[in-house]
Amino acid sequence: MSQSVATQDVVNEDPSVQGIQVEHRADPFAMVIVGAHGDLTKRKLLPALYALYQQNLLPKDFAILGLSRTPMSDQEFRVLMCDSLKKFASDLKFEQDAWDKFAKSLYYLSADMGKQQDYDTITSKLDELKDKHGTEGNNIFYLSTAPSLYTPTIKGLAAAGLAKKCKPNEAPWPRIIVEKPFGHDLTSSEGLDEAIHETFNEHQVYRIDHYLGKETVQNIMVLRFANGIFEPLWNYKYIDHVQITNAETLGVEDRGPYYEESGCLRDMLQNHMLQLVSLVGMEPPISMDHEATRDEKVKVLRCLRHIEKENVNESVVRGQYGAGTIDGKKVVGYRQENRVSPESNTETFVAVKMFIDNWRWAGVPFFVRSGKRLAKSITEIAIQFRPAPHRLFRDILGADGLNPNNLVIQIQPDEGISLKFATKQPGQANQIRWLNMDFKYGAAFGVRSPSAYERLLYDCMLGDPSLFARTDQVDVSWAFVDPILASWAEENKKNKIKFPNYEAGSWGPKEADDLIGSTGFSWRRL
Ligand code: BG6
Repeated sequence: MSQSVATQDVVNEDPSVQGIQVEHRADPFAMVIVGAHGDLTKRKLLPALYALYQQNLLPKDFAILGLSRTPMSDQEFRVLMCDSLKKFASDLKFEQDAWDKFAKSLYYLSADMGKQQDYDTITSKLDELKDKHGTEGNNIFYLSTAPSLYTPTIKGLAAAGLAKKCKPNEAPWPRIIVEKPFGHDLTSSEGLDEAIHETFNEHQVYRIDHYLGKETVQNIMVLRFANGIFEPLWNYKYIDHVQITNAETLGVEDRGPYYEESGCLRDMLQNHMLQLVSLVGMEPPISMDHEATRDEKVKVLRCLRHIEKENVNESVVRGQYGAGTIDGKKVVGYRQENRVSPESNTETFVAVKMFIDNWRWAGVPFFVRSGKRLAKSITEIAIQFRPAPHRLFRDILGADGLNPNNLVIQIQPDEGISLKFATKQPGQANQIRWLNMDFKYGAAFGVRSPSAYERLLYDCMLGDPSLFARTDQVDVSWAFVDPILASWAEENKKNKIKFPNYEAGSWGPKEADDLIGSTGFSWRRL
């Protein structure tokens, strides 16, 4: 949660009464999207910017400049973005009037980020926008392009004088937003950081992990630290283990080349999943200052028990989907996907047993799994409490007496929180049933939740990096996954891995069940 959140809610128990909104306006700016012809711009960035405009959260003076190699006029770009908005942003109300006004601030340039002379054209365009739209020379550069172009683009911007280090309150300011992946291991991530820090100070750098922009993810801190009842239980004395699941029914779609290089460990675990682990595991920050929160997140990741390269198979399972059935439809295996090698050893599933070696979490396992082409699309965090210490209802409950209380934070879909507890069934007989006390965002608030990108772009405009990954956090995450990657690379060389090892539409490889089963637990049936 950021300090400079633009809205301040007045607590009111009647959900039909909305909180009062107090606004902080962002400075005027131009946002330069490098890779504006890509999927991310069409599906996420433009809809998020339009949604902010509709909610009157953009400053009066702003401009958006799309860059990519494809030749296109401003008008063609506006039409393309309008069509994408209608196609991909079904949760937004399209208003022609609002769009027409918004579109007047949209511009496009065809540019090759590898050619220095193209930066001169970008500079002239930004000067023009400064005069026409009053952007005051504040520029946000959004790198939504192939990661191989990150470093050349940053160097190009610096050489053209478009980007430079500045002090926290200095204006005009350049900021940079970097999409994941931040490198592909610790060494390359450090290399990328070096290139970034030659041109930008850390406070100008916004590394996007869109999970941090999700409402339900931000709510983890509120649940933990705005309520008095959970935190006393939030430790090894009362928590048996934690399960974090990210399951997708989708396959790799048309992202074969990217995914072949990345795999599930780099694509999901190193970033999104470890962010969730850090939010569940962190200590309360000393204040809502953005650095205080990020400090605590880094601290907990530093406590992750190192998995030795030699012992990876004791704590980690990888899988790759074969052909199967999803929602009644037959789907091909990963190796048959478009632009994927028929001999690929890339993992599409990963399950890890991890421990946080500190006082709070001593001996509590965190089981984390993520995979594509699984039986259901769901992301959740389940805190499983220890069973009651004395089994008073042993005779009534039988084996059920071992049932634990669960607190489940459902990240998506059906965002909400539920608590499972035992209750007496009405009637003369003494019977006990396990029930869920459910809170659902949709039903409770009845308002649309902003998309993760809306929140993150807005925070960047306000200069608030709380919900962005800091460089030391990225490094410590890579340090955790690097030995796993190294061990797999060795196994691959020795042809030790037999893929595919799970059917599309299942819950992943059997070894993942064994991983958790060996400790006496089982994955939640979702
Ligand atoms: C992205 C990954 O970062 O997150 C994708 O690259 C994945 O492979 C996606 O599908 C999942 O995001 P969400 O918000 O749908 O859970």
